[in-house]
Amino acid sequence: MTFTPFERPVRAAFVGLGRIYDLNVRAYRDNPDVEVVALVDPSEERRAQRGREWPDAHTFASAAELAASGLAVDAVEALLPIPLHTDGVVELLGYGWHVNLQKPMCNDLADAQRMLHAAATNDRVLRVMENYLFYEPLRKLKETVEAGTIGDVVGYHLKMVASGRGGWDVPMSSYEWQFQQMRNGRGILVFDDGWHKLATALWLFGPIAEVRAWIGTTEVAPGIGMDAPTMIAWEHANGIRGVWDITLATDLYLRSDYYTNDERWEVTGKRGYARVNRCTGRGIQQPSLEVYVDGALTAYHDLDDDWASSFRDSGRHWLRWLHTGDGPLWWSGEQAVDVLRFALAAYASSAAGGVGVDPSTVE
Ligand SMILES: NC(=O)c1ccc[n+]([C@@H]2O[C@H](COP(=O)([O-])OP(=O)(O)OC[C@H]3O[C@@H](n4cnc5c(N)ncnc54)[C@H](O)[C@@H]3O)[C@@H](O)[C@H]2O)c1
Repeated sequence: MTFTPFERPVRAAFVGLGRIYDLNVRAYRDNPDVEVVALVDPSEERRAQRGREWPDAHTFASAAELAASGLAVDAVEALLPIPLHTDGVVELLGYGWHVNLQKPMCNDLADAQRMLHAAATNDRVLRVMENYLFYEPLRKLKETVEAGTIGDVVGYHLKMVASGRGGWDVPMSSYEWQFQQMRNGRGILVFDDGWHKLATALWLFGPIAEVRAWIGTTEVAPGIGMDAPTMIAWEHANGIRGVWDITLATDLYLRSDYYTNDERWEVTGKRGYARVNRCTGRGIQQPSLEVYVDGALTAYHDLDDDWASSFRDSGRHWLRWLHTGDGPLWWSGEQAVDVLRFALAAYASSAAGGVGVDPSTVE
């Protein structure tokens, strides 16, 4: 890839103006690194709604119309329904645009290869954004662990409770493609939201050597099963083991400005532990990071623990990266394939009764 950093504001287009646009757009506001030139969505209502904030941007019903218009675009923020990711990204790269794609990248390795191939052939950058790596309490957790504050790491635990009540509205149209994903064996908890948890594991402790999983299902409506209760455990190449439990509490009310998801990360070291108490929702309303060592608990009261800020900072990182080309993309297309392999190894393990699966061997 022969990437040349931009010396002027990046001309960007949003492709997909649905629910998550509300958070991704935060990186684009008041940002001298970028100029929003186009908004694309088949929904006229969405175009009108989002267009009010960007009066100078042109609106289009499809990426093909934008490409045919001759309007110059450097990079796109691809916020498409997951089933459209592969064909959508191949098309966007084909127009010669760099792409910042929402997770999960795609459902299988063949599709991932198509995307990577399209990026290479068109000599464009494909990034698969991972906002959790920009959530300040998690960044501080990583920093604390790496500083040796809690001693050598002896294990860690992720927890996720999907709750049925609270949070913001999600349009029925979003559920329709999520149900399609579920029918294709890519559930909303393990694969969609879970993608973030797997990504944080890779980010914290590196490559995964073995995964063991027990993926359950709970029928929430006739013919619609959600992928919990689920337990997934793994060992990193460095020997550190992690475990993640996913439960579904349909009647639980959770206060949240966004999705209703009660999440925790707890790393145990030889001398103490560090725990992030929440992320998307406001489950445990203690300071978002607590670190215990030698009988003393340090509580961080001043971290930016608004989940939306992680989208702002992830997007800003991308837009800055386009000006420098330096440092990690978090994630590059190739790194996102490692997250995909991790998920696929969990599916393969569960299907085989919980045996250990090396993610590098999944097909
Ligand atoms: N990072 C996170 O935590 C997070 C959270 C939620 C969603 N997401 C991801 O964001 C993406 C979008 O999710 P969402 O919740 O906003 O979905 P959504 O259904 O609310 O919005 C999708 C939008 O894409 C539009 N669209 C459909 N086909 C299109 C096309 N061919 N070209 C352009 N636009 C098209 C739809 O009209 C809709 O407005 C998904 O990949 C999802 O997994 C990520």
